[in-house]
Amino acid sequence: MSARQIHLGLLAQPFGDHPAAWLKSRAPLNAAINIDYYREVAKLAEQGLFDLFFIADTPATRTDNLSVHSRNPEYNDRFEPITLLSAIAGATRYIGLGATASTSFYEPYNVARLFASLDHISHGRAGWNIVTSANDYAARNYGQDKLPPHDQRYQRAREFFQVVSSLWDTWEDDAFPYDRQQCTYFQPEKYHLTDHHGEYFNVHGGLNIARAPQGHPVIIQAGSSETGKAFAAETAEVVFASDPNLPAAQKFYADVKGRLPQFGRLPGSLKILAGLSVVVGESKAEAQDKYQELQRMLHPDVGLMRLGQDLEADLRGLPLDEPVPESMIPAKANFHQAYFEQIASMIREQKLTLRELYSRYERGKVTLCGTPSQIVDHMIEWTESDAADGFMLSFHLVPDDLADFVQKVVPEMQRRGVYRKNYHGNTLRDHLGLARPSNRHVGTVSE
Ligand SMILES: Cc1cc2nc3c(=O)[nH]c(=O)nc-3n(C[C@H](O)[C@H](O)[C@H](O)COP(=O)(O)O)c2cc1C
Repeated sequence: MSARQIHLGLLAQPFGDHPAAWLKSRAPLNAAINIDYYREVAKLAEQGLFDLFFIADTPATRTDNLSVHSRNPEYNDRFEPITLLSAIAGATRYIGLGATASTSFYEPYNVARLFASLDHISHGRAGWNIVTSANDYAARNYGQDKLPPHDQRYQRAREFFQVVSSLWDTWEDDAFPYDRQQCTYFQPEKYHLTDHHGEYFNVHGGLNIARAPQGHPVIIQAGSSETGKAFAAETAEVVFASDPNLPAAQKFYADVKGRLPQFGRLPGSLKILAGLSVVVGESKAEAQDKYQELQRMLHPDVGLMRLGQDLEADLRGLPLDEPVPESMIPAKANFHQAYFEQIASMIREQKLTLRELYSRYERGKVTLCGTPSQIVDHMIEWTESDAADGFMLSFHLVPDDLADFVQKVVPEMQRRGVYRKNYHGNTLRDHLGLARPSNRHVGTVSE
């Protein structure tokens, strides 16, 4: 039996995902808004035969603590993702192009149109990460004081998805013959109106673009709450997991895949990519040194801010070198439940000082420092033991750590027979081994 093939996505961040990366990276200083640089990074990932190049997003700046945020490039200087991916599409040929768009702020028609357009522009490489969003900064840009409660956001997301997927089936695949001789641009009988009247949306119309090359762009989801997992099992084709260790990842994998039969879905119709940050070295110690060098550059204000944000607690003013009191843990979270739980359990179980806590907390991923061979061992262990179908890679330092991965780890994966040597198809669905959805109206009688 041939070895299980590993899928790879890149969580693309201009300097890297470490908050101190911009202080050390050899990326241009304006990397976050430098399209030429972004194209080079995407091409590097494509050289590494990645399935997916992915842009995360929150449509907001921070509006407070600006003096702390001024030390961190993360939130306040970035491209709108679909615009960015459209520009990258022209510089790449195979790699999938995924982005986040929030169901809490956008309208389904906008999202359906944006991703259908990106799918055409990229010849079938688009993926939509459905998020319900997890902060009030963005809410305030869209007429809301704060985000609605968690379950309500998911109710809206479910209805949002129904409308988007219906709009993607507006046209049958062959609805546009573009026939000059017959003067027939499209065939009216192959048009299907969406007439949706629900709790959150009223949409009467159709999408003004031919059906996407992939039928539907690939649906991605990353919620790990109960509601998030239920929604993923119903709708998602790729799930970004964020478990800190193998048993937790196996549990999540079994849980999400185990929910698929109730929606008539097979296990292979949903791929789980585990978050993984990789630092490559000639030896494990060398890789650890590289990582520690960045950790030492982390400004305490930024460390505290990142921690406080995910714990939903204000940690400023607490002594840095004393254990964090359990009384600081709020009763429940409204934003990222998985991140919240991770920090809460570190406080309860590891009794870390505040400085240790912010230095060790990793947002939804595992950092692996090692040689190419050790890194591939880890990846194979996870995929062979049903903890993941692949990895959502992020790199502390871009482009260097990504280049190391492409040049040193990818050949080792290929040597062990767990990774492709060429792209075998052109679309994101091809790379992931996902079926192209047929149009729901084909084979049915339309009015
Ligand atoms: C790899 C990865 C990428 C993510 N990208 C985004 C993003 O771009 N925007 C966002 O608001 N949340 C993003 N998230 C967060 C999840 O979608 C988040 O867990 C979810 O919004 C909260 O839902 P939950 O309470 O069901 O876990 C990402 C998570 C992961 C693991």
